Amino acid sequence: MTVVEAVRWSGGGDAVDIIDQRQLPNELVRRELRTVDDVCDAILTLSVRGAPAIGIAGAMGLVVALSRLTEDTREHFIGAVESLCDRIGAVRPTAVNLPWAMERMCRTARITPGQPDVILEVLRAEATKILEEDRAMCRRIGEHGLELLPETASILTHCNAGALATGGIGTALAPIYVAKEQGRRVHVFADETRPLLQGSRLTAWELTQAGIDVTVLADGMAASLMRGGAVDLVIVGADRIAANGDVANKIGTYALALAARHHNIPFYVAAPTSTVDPATATGCDIAIEHRDGDELREWNGMSMMPEKASVYNPAFDITPAELITAIITDEGIVRPPYAFVASGNPGGVGG
Ligand code: MRU
Repeated sequence: MTVVEAVRWSGGGDAVDIIDQRQLPNELVRRELRTVDDVCDAILTLSVRGAPAIGIAGAMGLVVALSRLTEDTREHFIGAVESLCDRIGAVRPTAVNLPWAMERMCRTARITPGQPDVILEVLRAEATKILEEDRAMCRRIGEHGLELLPETASILTHCNAGALATGGIGTALAPIYVAKEQGRRVHVFADETRPLLQGSRLTAWELTQAGIDVTVLADGMAASLMRGGAVDLVIVGADRIAANGDVANKIGTYALALAARHHNIPFYVAAPTSTVDPATATGCDIAIEHRDGDELREWNGMSMMPEKASVYNPAFDITPAELITAIITDEGIVRPPYAFVASGNPGGVGG
C-alpha cells in the first residue's frame, strides 16, 4: 500500500519539501520551501494544507527560515524566533495546530540555553519530533477507529483528512488505511468538497494510490446517498475541537452531520490531540477563515456568476457536539458528554 509523504525535510535539510497540493490530481509536483515568504505562501495558497500538515510545515519552515539569518546574539535570535512564529502562526486562523506548533517552537527556543547555533539545532530536532509524533498519532487514530468499522464498511468522508493533510496516514482516513492493511473490504464515498475540491482532487487521489475503492460525489448528493442506505458511517477530520466537543472542519461538514443524524448514521470526527483546544470553550469562540470570493467566482478561467453578485466563502463551519457520535483521538475514542481539559488529554478517554 502506497501512502504519500506530504511534508518532509529536503535531502540536504535546508528546505521543507512538500507535495504541491494545488497541482493534484493532474501532476505530482514537489515544492521546496526555503524562506518565511515561501512557507507563508504555501500555507495561504493551500499548497500545503490540512490542520496537522500546516502545523508541521510551519515548525519546519521556521527552522529553514532561521538558518538563513545572521543574528549573532542569543537575544536577537530569540527575538527573530518570536516574530517569525507570530507571522507563520497567523497565516490561517481556524486550525489550532498551526499556532500550537509555533507556540511549541517558541517555547523550546526560550528554554534552550546557549547561542543561536545550539538553539537552531534544538529547534530542528523539535520540528522533526512534531512530524514524528503526528505520524504516530495518525497510526493510533487508525487503530482506535478500526473498532468502529463493520467488517465490510461503506464510509462517507468530506474534504481531505488523509496522508496529504498530516505527517502520517491521516486522521479520518487512518482507520480506512488500517482496515485495508488488515485485508478488510472498505469502500469510501468522497464528497467533492466545494469550492476547492479537496475531496475529489486529493482524497480520491491518495486513496486510489493506495488501492482503496473510492466513489466521488458532489456535496449536495450526500443526503440522498444516505437515504438510499449506501452509507454505514461518516468520518471527517477537524481543524479545531473546542472544550465542549464542538468541531470546526471544512465547510459542508455541518450539513453532513445534520443529514447523518436524520438518517441515524453514526457521525465520527477523527483528530490528534494537537487539534483539541481546551482553551476554546465552544464552537462560537472559533475564528472561521473566510477566503477570496474568486474561489467561487471563477472556474478554469471562466466566470461562474454575474459580476455584481456577492460571494459567501467561509472555509470552515462548526458542527455542534450534539451531532457527533464520538471523537476518535490518538488516546482513544471519546463519547459524549465531551469535556476536554487543559492537559491536552481529551476528557472521557477510557471512561
Ligand atoms: O482548507 P483545508 O484544505 O486546509 O481544510 C482541511 C480540513 O478541513 C481537514 O478536514 C482538516 O484540516 C483535518 S486534516 C487531518
